[in-house]
Amino acid sequence: MSIRKVAINTGGGDAPGLNAVIRAIVLSSIRQGWEVVGIRRGYHGLTEPDGVVPLDREAVRGITHRGGTILGAVNKGHPFAHPVKQPDGSIELVDNSDKVLERFEELGIDVLFAIGGDGSLSIANKLSVRGLRVIGVPKTIDNDVLGTVVTFGFDTAVSIATEALERLHTTAEAHERVMVCEVMGRNCGWIALNSGVAATADVILMPEIPFDFDVVCEKVRQRDEMGRGFTIIVVSEGAYEKGGQPFFKRRSDGATRLGGIGEYVADEIGKRTGKDTRSVCLGHLLRGGGPSTFDRLLSLRFGAAAVRMAARGQFGAMVGLVPPGMEAVPLDVVVAGTRNVPLDCDTIRTARILDICLGDQITRTGARS
Ligand code: F6P
Repeated sequence: MSIRKVAINTGGGDAPGLNAVIRAIVLSSIRQGWEVVGIRRGYHGLTEPDGVVPLDREAVRGITHRGGTILGAVNKGHPFAHPVKQPDGSIELVDNSDKVLERFEELGIDVLFAIGGDGSLSIANKLSVRGLRVIGVPKTIDNDVLGTVVTFGFDTAVSIATEALERLHTTAEAHERVMVCEVMGRNCGWIALNSGVAATADVILMPEIPFDFDVVCEKVRQRDEMGRGFTIIVVSEGAYEKGGQPFFKRRSDGATRLGGIGEYVADEIGKRTGKDTRSVCLGHLLRGGGPSTFDRLLSLRFGAAAVRMAARGQFGAMVGLVPPGMEAVPLDVVVAGTRNVPLDCDTIRTARILDICLGDQITRTGARS
């Protein structure tokens, strides 16, 4: 079947590199002779006035280095759970997928490039099962998508977290404090682990390794005993104590989001060791701003490879970085699970050999940092 018109949408939370992917898809598609449109705000734009916008060379000029997304992002509601206001003012989620598929047909869209994380890729997979020709592109700072060794946005987030940890280092040392830094990552510890090792944190806490406060406090004490009166701890938002549960915060709209573990860890260490402790949560700083060089290049490569896949007719798949190149990974394989940090991976082994405490075993503190 020949392709005449393609659409792009960016689902879920934003990540640095989205605009670079859009640019590469648009320019590669134009080369193929295809018309390109962008759907604003995930799938919402399909049913909104001016929600489907033409994307030509001019529209994507000078956006590779820009953060956010020119198409807008929403992580509330999707075709299978569309929010509809009820007469009493409450919101009910309804399956709107038939209408969404009809709209794609009305608009003459032959292929959808769905740029998103696991939630958006699951929706893309469902739409693909219903007959839409879909190609996914793996976006998220959390790096938790199966079928690719890395997602775009992750490198930028790790770089920001690493710089923040380094900055905390000097103030922690000056005041001889324990500084706890909470980073995003949902139920995966990639950001905490990579930034923690790169910035030589003393303790890294992540969801894959439930932690023990006795172990963490022992690390703080050992450092004090050897005259290193400060400790840097990076904790992933989804980390939790052995036998405990991850921490959630309720937002004003009633939805819950991971968060609060950093403050809890700092308080508890303060109580148990008598040390002065502080916590900081990096939150959306990790998602904001432009992409790193690595993410710009990766995003452009993902976008160009996604169009090559479409030209070859490889639908119902996500473009994955599977070294040495890009591969079409079936969407049902991608959405079958989450890519957690493997406990025997090289970075974990490196952390342990560097005596970084991962919260589960007492480490020998040498003359480090
Ligand atoms: O999935 C990316 C992510 O940044 C997570 O790390 C975080 O838990 C979540 O999004 C927060 O999303 P938001 O504040 O946009 O709802």
